[in-house]
Amino acid sequence: MPMSKAFEERLFPRLPKIVEYFGTPFHIFDEQGIIDTGENLKQSLKDIKGFQEFFATKALPTSAILQIMKKMGFGLDCASPSELILARKNGFRGEDIMFSSNNTTEDIFELALADGGCILNIDDITMIETVKNFPELICFRYNPGERRTGNALIGIPVEAKYGLRHDQIIPAYRTAIKRGAKRFGLHSMIISNERNYRYMVETVRMLLELIEEVSKELNIKFEFFNISGGIGIPYHPEDAPFDMPAFVKDTKYLLQQFTQKNGYTPRLFMECGRYVTGPHGVLVATVTNRMSKYREYVGVDMATMSANPRPAIYEKAYHHITILDPAGKPRRGGDEIVDVVGPLCENSDKFAIQRVLPKTSVGDIMVQHDTGAHSPAMGGNYNGWLRPQQLLLRSNGTVELIRRAETFDDLFATLNFKPKILKG
Ligand SMILES: Cc1ncc(COP(=O)(O)O)c(C=O)c1O
Repeated sequence: MPMSKAFEERLFPRLPKIVEYFGTPFHIFDEQGIIDTGENLKQSLKDIKGFQEFFATKALPTSAILQIMKKMGFGLDCASPSELILARKNGFRGEDIMFSSNNTTEDIFELALADGGCILNIDDITMIETVKNFPELICFRYNPGERRTGNALIGIPVEAKYGLRHDQIIPAYRTAIKRGAKRFGLHSMIISNERNYRYMVETVRMLLELIEEVSKELNIKFEFFNISGGIGIPYHPEDAPFDMPAFVKDTKYLLQQFTQKNGYTPRLFMECGRYVTGPHGVLVATVTNRMSKYREYVGVDMATMSANPRPAIYEKAYHHITILDPAGKPRRGGDEIVDVVGPLCENSDKFAIQRVLPKTSVGDIMVQHDTGAHSPAMGGNYNGWLRPQQLLLRSNGTVELIRRAETFDDLFATLNFKPKILKG
């Protein structure tokens, strides 16, 4: 179910004009779609006491998008210094921010705790000592080790670099208490792009069980548990969506059981990125070449690694493609099997491999679906290709530049510096 019908209807008729005005390539995001999904998430979880979403900044780190999250009352999940800086630039402060770093140094913890602070989610037991001014509110990231966790995208927990082992969890909270912690949370992320709701329910069950174990041993209560992100979206037309009502039903049941046994209910936190913005962005490019080699090629005016490296990085990453004629009408018929490629000097620079597409001509518009999360954000400059501009289709119909395209000056800025030489 790539790209919603509503987004298509909002975008396609206007696309030729947008292409003419802004030029290609660009990502364009659908404000109304993002709001609808975000509000729907809140509505679905409204009966779960204290539910809070912390949008995963890494999914789409652009101010205009973070402002939409702010308006919906979402916090932000940050994982790096630059994400923290961007969050604060956009007015997120203190407990609006969940900071989940890993392999972290003292100066980064200091940055995280400065300027209003954040909720610190510590990823390793040794890092309790790395945090110099230990906060009252603390969270640890748990790694359950041997456990089936859905698809293979995130790897097997036992091989993952994230989180504390089971036997480290109680000692970690004990040390945190000694260092002054008084408020507690627990975090785990063991699925990624997973559409089977049962795995998310299992994360809920796992964390609630662990909370009980830690509470009994240390006589503490937990304010929240954070099941993180990882909800998948249907990239493929045949993919079934994540069953949110079923997830909510089972989660409610588990929480009721917990409350009955323990006399209180910890808040449920989530850090959905892909689920909130993924389906509400598309990458728009112009077909610049048709090439016939041992295969048939459709060449577009951008590189995968600068615009959407997911297909080049993840072997199975599929992004649906629609071809429009220059007047903005979807092309139909004359099906052929093609590879859709960019101009980067890498054979993995392919947006689609052996894809059936309608007959495509130079000058057509290629729309690559579901680039609203982890697509532009993962883009890089390999081979000196520049990251494209980002546009926002506002709910009121205006189209706004929300991130300009990179320039050669941006690319070469780091070659301008004061000489620094160590002699001898
Ligand atoms: C700690 C953490 N939270 C949230 C997310 C967001 O994941 P998704 O966009 O798949 O929901 C990620 C993704 O890598 C993550 O590492």
